[in-house]
Formats: sequence, structure tokens, C-alpha cells
Amino acid sequence: MGSGLNLPFYNPERIEFVWGLDPSQGLMKMAGKKSARLPFQVRLMTLSGEDIPLESDSVDTVVVTYTLCSIPDVLKALKEMHRVLKPDGQMLFCEHGRSPDAPVTRWQDAINPLWMKVSGGCHLNRPISELIKGSGFHINHLDMRYMSSVKLISYNYLGWASPL
Ligand SMILES: C[S@@+](CC[C@H](N)C(=O)[O-])C[C@H]1O[C@@H](n2cnc3c(N)ncnc32)[C@H](O)[C@@H]1O
Repeated sequence: MGSGLNLPFYNPERIEFVWGLDPSQGLMKMAGKKSARLPFQVRLMTLSGEDIPLESDSVDTVVVTYTLCSIPDVLKALKEMHRVLKPDGQMLFCEHGRSPDAPVTRWQDAINPLWMKVSGGCHLNRPISELIKGSGFHINHLDMRYMSSVKLISYNYLGWASPL
């Protein structure tokens, strides 16, 4: 959920309500303020993605943006997303991660330990599509590209996936 930056982009006519999950109390407070102005209900959970307190097969859509880089046990969190998603549900993702270009990857790997210290645990070099596939998802659509000339931090993975 973060500070709720994505909330204004949900179509109120197409959703019942949103569960929002994030371990940061400060960001959830900001999300709570934004939610109060929206025409749909947002139920916030100040918790980590590695243990989602929702029933299995209960969620229509999982949305995850610029977060798979930061979750300490990212495979556990992805498996939790898979568990709570209905069999015909979808996960929408927009994430930054590992570049396919060796010269860029070498720098991403080299700088990653320092980067994690100054960025709240964000990894520069996670292979996002491989992690998603390795957690039991089939990727239906994947757009991968640099989003800016700063190649180290801007390789983006955008797409949607469904549980296998
Ligand atoms: C770059 S921010 C992205 C926030 C939001 N998704 C967005 O796109 O605006 C990364 C987020 O990952 C969250 N985060 C860190 N560890 C997490 C965990 N274990 N489970 C879930 N979210 C986590 C942080 O609190 C932060 O809100």
C-alpha cells in the first residue's frame, strides 16, 4: 500500500473494497488519510507481506508496485499472494529489478549492499519475473524495459500473472 499513491487510479465502479497491506506505520497513516476521501472502502493492515492474514482463495486481484525489491523474504510474500488469490484471479505488478545486460548487472550486484543500507532495504538486482514464476504464477503479459537513462535503478517489469 505504501502511502496510497495508487489509490486514486482504482475504478470505483469495478471494485468492492481494497485491502491495503504495508508494515510502515507512517506510510499507512498517510494511506488512511487518502482513503477517507475515496468513494470505496479501504481496509488497512499494518503488517508484512510474508504473512497475510487473509483466507486462501479470497482475493480477486493482487496489486504490487515497487515493493518486491524491499520485502526481506520476497519468495514467502509472493507465495502468500498466490495463496490468497482466487484461482481465476490476477496479480498486477510494476516493479524495478535486475537488468538483462551484463555490464549493468555487474554494477547492480556491486552497489546493492550499499544501496540497501541507504534505501530502506531495497534490492537493485532482484530478477522480478523469475521470482514471480518461481512462486507458482504464470505470467500472462510482461513488458520489460529501462524507464530512464539511469540504467542501474530503472529496469522495469510491468505485467500481470495468474496462479498456476
Ligand atoms: C518504494 S515503496 C512502494 C510503495 C507503494 N507500493 C507504491 O508503489 O507507492 C516500498 C514499500 O515496501 C514496503 N515494505 C517493506 N517491507 C515490506 C514487507 N515485508 N511486506 C510488505 N511491504 C513491505 C515499504 O514499507 C514501502 O511502503
